[in-house]
Amino acid sequence: MTERALARIDLGAVERNCDRLPKPLCAVVKAEAYGHGVGPVVEAALAGGATWLAVATAAEAAELRRLAVDVPVLVMGAVTPDELQIAIDAGADLVAWSEEVAAAAPRVHVKLDTGMGRLGTRDRELALRLAAGPNTVGLMTHFATADELDDDLFPAQLEDFGRFVDEVGRDDLLVHAANSAAALREPAAHFGMVRCGVAIYGLDPFQADPDAHGLEPALSLHSWVASLRRIEPGQSVGYGRRWRAKEPTWVATVPVGYGDGWRRALTNDCDVLIGGRRHPMVGTVSMDNVTVSLGAEPVAEVGDEVVLIGAQGGERILAEEVARRMGTINYEVTTGLLPRIRREHVR
Ligand SMILES: Cc1ncc(COP(=O)(O)O)c(C=O)c1O
Repeated sequence: MTERALARIDLGAVERNCDRLPKPLCAVVKAEAYGHGVGPVVEAALAGGATWLAVATAAEAAELRRLAVDVPVLVMGAVTPDELQIAIDAGADLVAWSEEVAAAAPRVHVKLDTGMGRLGTRDRELALRLAAGPNTVGLMTHFATADELDDDLFPAQLEDFGRFVDEVGRDDLLVHAANSAAALREPAAHFGMVRCGVAIYGLDPFQADPDAHGLEPALSLHSWVASLRRIEPGQSVGYGRRWRAKEPTWVATVPVGYGDGWRRALTNDCDVLIGGRRHPMVGTVSMDNVTVSLGAEPVAEVGDEVVLIGAQGGERILAEEVARRMGTINYEVTTGLLPRIRREHVR
């Protein structure tokens, strides 16, 4: 390792993941491409066959224009009047569920709230009126439970949205609903385009194994063994003495912590890879360091690579595993890696 900590992003994986997903494909690249770094990811997604990009905010749309991206961009989030102008200046399409936005923006996608209960309108009359408008270029909805295979809201939302599309009865509109989970599980949800975020990064929307869907994780997280010491029985490591050695134990210090987004919730509850083998992290995660038990022998050396997410030797640690241990989802693991961790983009 030439630096303390590094997130390596395999752009070939992003490209292949996009290639495997249904088309037309809108690549969702909000929040710095779910923490993967927006500029290089956009290039890879377009190379993989994405023909639209979606972001959450007007500033993110403006950033895509600064990157000289010239495919259609959809701003999916709510915008203030000032932000509306920024999105329009960036040439982005907006999502509309009010007369105000529908009237102010040159190109809108009318959003029906079929059960997510967040953005969009539940007022069918309003939605039909907006859908008939001259600025309307698309119809959309968003699923709340596409990642839960036995939940009955997903089929109900799909049916309701299909009925709405029929009621609107315009065949000049781009109709879209599917996030990654819906795109992977239900061809009937594809309509005229799918909007995939998490899957393009090789993360499993169902929080299991991305391999099951032919997806390759793009992000791996690396650091190094910065220090080694032998801890005697009864001695502790870290703040609050939250781990004590029961027998003589070699402990490696790895300079990554919650100041990098490696969250304190992982205290005494995660593995890392060193020398191609899993080793448990022990003791409290601090802002800049974690400690790892190597067992009775000093089986690593100062300078050895540590993999916190990714593969080493025959072993691998998925973001899905880290998420489970953090009590969250893979989306938050990668998006939560802070800018202090440099992103290195490789092919
Ligand atoms: C409206 C909308 N569509 C699509 C997506 C992409 O979802 P996913 O990352 O699960 O594919 C998101 C992301 O949250 C979203 O908010």
